[in-house]
Amino acid sequence: MPIISQETITNLPTFRDITLKIKQIFPAIPFAALLAACSQSSPPSATLFKPIATLQDIMQSIIDPNVDFVWNAVSSVSTAEGTQEHRPETDEEWEQLRQHALTLAEAGNLLLIENRIVAHQNANTSSGGAELNSQDIQKLIESNREDYVQRVHSLQNATELVLAAIDKKNADELEKAGGDVEHACEQCHSQFWYPNDKRPK
Ligand code: HEC
Repeated sequence: MPIISQETITNLPTFRDITLKIKQIFPAIPFAALLAACSQSSPPSATLFKPIATLQDIMQSIIDPNVDFVWNAVSSVSTAEGTQEHRPETDEEWEQLRQHALTLAEAGNLLLIENRIVAHQNANTSSGGAELNSQDIQKLIESNREDYVQRVHSLQNATELVLAAIDKKNADELEKAGGDVEHACEQCHSQFWYPNDKRPK
């Protein structure tokens, strides 16, 4: 391979030279428009994002705690004195609930980042027996990517219903939307986590 001398390098046209040249050739086209045309193809997500958590981490640390907040917002507790209904009352309570619901909704996008691994090598993804190990989950997701994306979108759609109920401060609607969210969790889990589970759903 020829060695590039320092001289060749310094003789290379600079970015400024090139843009001047382009301006000479296309005097009528504003430079900003040229730049916009060049940057239209966006980089693939594999180079754009930097996944840090595994899918399992996201389930445990982002999805689960935030959805629990949503599910627990409307509850009834039976005691000796009777049934106590719990639902958000104050503006602050609704606002706090909204923060958790919004985090849940956007966590769906984290699940869509492509080069994220399912779990660390020795992590256990199986608590009962019907659950797959992380390598098999990974393969299943890769070979059924469209379904997987669909499942994530279902979770996000259900969570949008939660957000709408919160914005209306409607506890009954919130409870119903919470059920839709649970259904979306279950649909993805039964396809990608424990597809061999033959128990009736
Ligand atoms: C698009 C698919 C998908 C959706 C939607 C989804 N999950 Fe998961 N979840 C998985 C997969 C795959 C696993 C198995 C890997 C693992 O163990 O983390 C899993 C595992 C889990 C685990 C076990 C984590 C562990 O300790 O191994 C919990 C808890 C969980 N999900 C909660 C939820 C809840 C709650 C929802 C709904 C609000 C939800 N997930 C929605 C794909 C999904």
